[in-house]
Amino acid sequence: MSLLQAATEVRERAYVPYSRFKVGAAIRAASGAVYSGCNVENVAYPEGTCAEAGAISAMVAAGETRIAEMLVIADSPEPVPPCGGCRQKIAEFARQDVRVTLCTTGGAQRVMTVAELLPGAFTAAHMDRT
Ligand code: THU
Repeated sequence: MSLLQAATEVRERAYVPYSRFKVGAAIRAASGAVYSGCNVENVAYPEGTCAEAGAISAMVAAGETRIAEMLVIADSPEPVPPCGGCRQKIAEFARQDVRVTLCTTGGAQRVMTVAELLPGAFTAAHMDRT
């Protein structure tokens, strides 16, 4: 299944009673398998989770930790960019050159690398004191 198809399908299942803004995300992991997620909001607003976080959780739950490619889609005027927190979450499991395709439901697309999404990322190397 293509990432666009997977993200488009899962987006329809987003739980968004507060923002009414449905987001879908899909990851192709190192094995080639596709994992998807949608945003799940909560009446305690900060407890809501983004589509990207859901897709990452599905990947890790399946036993994989390497993102090969990712796609995000929403009904937005411009290709939807991951929020700051999701950029850090993506960087945890993706190399700097991994491509993330940002999409609108209208068909617009923008491809960015993880390095472009999160320049100067905090990494485990920053905790190395030896
Ligand atoms: N949202 C995502 O799921 N991913 C993004 O990349 C941007 C924002 C969600 C969070 C919230 O449920 C809604 O979109 C509005 O912020």
